[in-house]
Amino acid sequence: MIKKCLFPVAGYGTRFLPATKAMPKEMLPIVNKPLVHYGVEEALDAGLFEIGFVTGRNKRAINDYFDTNYELENEISGSGKEALLSDIRDVIDRGTFSTTRQSEMLGLGHAILTGETLIGDEPFGVVLADDLCFGQEYDGVLSQMVEMYKQFRCTIVAIEEVPADQVEKFGIIAGDMIRDDLYRVTDMVEKPKPEDAPTNLAIIGRYILTPDIFDIIRDTPPGKNGEVQITDALLQQAKKGCVMAYKFKGKRFDCGSIEGFIDATNYCYDHVYKK
Ligand code: G1P
Repeated sequence: MIKKCLFPVAGYGTRFLPATKAMPKEMLPIVNKPLVHYGVEEALDAGLFEIGFVTGRNKRAINDYFDTNYELENEISGSGKEALLSDIRDVIDRGTFSTTRQSEMLGLGHAILTGETLIGDEPFGVVLADDLCFGQEYDGVLSQMVEMYKQFRCTIVAIEEVPADQVEKFGIIAGDMIRDDLYRVTDMVEKPKPEDAPTNLAIIGRYILTPDIFDIIRDTPPGKNGEVQITDALLQQAKKGCVMAYKFKGKRFDCGSIEGFIDATNYCYDHVYKK
């Protein structure tokens, strides 16, 4: 089944400057854990134990975070503070962590293609850690998507409905409705103007991709903003074969924006941290 999950984490996080001047945005904490920790936990919970990071300059802290810090372990060993490390120790025990570097920022499609060396020829998950998802009373979003993959054996993207004035921030899909929560994709547009959007069904940062996507990305010219867009590659995949869009159960926060980050922090404090 699906074993690997790619985390494109090379972005600069300019919206959070100056906080992100010398640290990766993925290491900004939501309450007591860095943002990327939540995404990795979601992947591990879905059975994706081989975690691959596509990093860039100034991202060393991410690799250090998913590794043992002997000095610190030694320092607090036997003290009451040791319990605070139990979550990250558990994550490190359950997963393996590999990294490759994207030396040029040519878009999300290019970042995913850069990860090919970590993935090889098998289906894999992609998590954009900025999108923080809580399954609430349901399984995590990636776990839900793995169930979909088992049924359809093709690429699955997670979607949610967004207000019409928000479509410009997302990849937007159109498709044939198969069930209330499932569409077979027929069209996809990256960040359309509201008047050009085929629907208000927005792709969020969770994908399960079949490995033929790599060759398709290689043939995908730069699109929106001059970047190689995964959305454009997915449209080609949908035309050739099958891409399903799944309306996930749970709650998503856009932690790439200050407002979303604060909302996620408040939600997490009340519903996750205090429990
Ligand atoms: C990326 C994708 C977009 C998707 C979004 C989800 O955009 O290009 O299709 O809807 O992630 O968060 P970004 O937010 O990285 O600009």
